[in-house]
Amino acid sequence: MIRSKDGHTKKKDLTTFAKEAVTDFRTVGAVAPSSRYLAQAMLGPLPLEKAQLVVEVGPGTGAMTRALLKRIPRDATLIAFEINPRFLRYLKSSISDARLHVVNASAETLEKEVHRRGYNHVDAVVSSLALGFMPARQRREFLGALGSLLGEEGVFTQYQYFHRLQMKNGHVRRFDLVRLLHRYFGSVKRRIIWRNLPPAFVFACRGPFSAETRRSLRARA
Ligand SMILES: C[S@@+](CC[C@H](N)C(=O)[O-])C[C@H]1O[C@@H](n2cnc3c(N)ncnc32)[C@H](O)[C@@H]1O
Repeated sequence: MIRSKDGHTKKKDLTTFAKEAVTDFRTVGAVAPSSRYLAQAMLGPLPLEKAQLVVEVGPGTGAMTRALLKRIPRDATLIAFEINPRFLRYLKSSISDARLHVVNASAETLEKEVHRRGYNHVDAVVSSLALGFMPARQRREFLGALGSLLGEEGVFTQYQYFHRLQMKNGHVRRFDLVRLLHRYFGSVKRRIIWRNLPPAFVFACRGPFSAETRRSLRARA
């Protein structure tokens, strides 16, 4: 079961997070770890009670990770993808739980990494990625892989602070995240969480398209 290692505090989470946000805002994409209200909103739509495999993308200092470990079954597995080496070290030193596998790999390798570990199906994917700051190709590869892994029953949640803006060729451009998500999922529900710094939009996505549409999305990626 989840055990916070010695010395783990919310203050350490905050200082570690803030340092990385200053150093690399484009990939961190936030100024502070998510509040418990945001974590609850992200986890609420997910089928966690009977989950066998859950994937988290962008765990940072572990705000969602700890909440997930409290909710998934004792025999479930949580794979967390993180590219920031300081966050990787921080997660490994502050959370001790045999169900958690922290992977130093980027979001777009999700399908390959999941298959490599012997799984074909993921029950839920929780993403904290700043999608608007990601290169379009990387974003397409990540979203395009979700349909076949989640199947008809799985659920994907994503939060975002700026869902109408993106960085393109170094310029800020308009972005329509809801429209983009509808290309990959049959149902996209949005809500705003005010009790977070800053307030965040949560997107809960279900019902991936048919296998045929998924194949053509993949071919386009
Ligand atoms: C907004 S922070 C979220 C941290 C944490 N989940 C929370 O809610 O407090 C986004 C995280 O995504 C990670 N990240 C950014 N790009 C990534 C990628 N391509 N693959 C995996 N993680 C990535 C960042 O290093 C950072 O930890």
